[in-house]
Amino acid sequence: MEKLKIAIGCDHGGFNLKNKVIDYLKARGIEYKDYGIYIFESSDYPEVAKQVAADVAAQKFDRGILICGTGLGMAIAANKTKGIRAVTISDTYSARVSRAHNNANILCIGERVIGEHLALDIVDMWLKTGFEGGRHKRRLDMIE
Ligand code: RB5
Repeated sequence: MEKLKIAIGCDHGGFNLKNKVIDYLKARGIEYKDYGIYIFESSDYPEVAKQVAADVAAQKFDRGILICGTGLGMAIAANKTKGIRAVTISDTYSARVSRAHNNANILCIGERVIGEHLALDIVDMWLKTGFEGGRHKRRLDMIE
């Protein structure tokens, strides 16, 4: 796997799963920064999404992972930042193709939607898959 620096964040809806994903990153020696939240309390996901998106867009980190209840609000918020391609993923096929074809730079997951083991398989697939470029780059350039 390419050596990656990951920015990770969550709201209260994704708090438990974020901690599991951090355990996963630690166990594999993957460098990360945790953007919170740090204690389980009601919080507003757009704030964390904006910070993670800004630092991924500024290339302080290679990629980001955002976890909320559904993975939806985080993606909507993160995609407001120019240069961010955030995707909400619930299956390993989409995890792979979101990297290979869409060069997704933020992975969003819903803790209330999928189980922990599937979520960690998705993270694994998403982190290890590279962008194929070629015709896919042309299409992403059209979006930019
Ligand atoms: C919080 O209740 C919930 O709305 C949030 O985690 C997320 O699912 C938003 O899209």
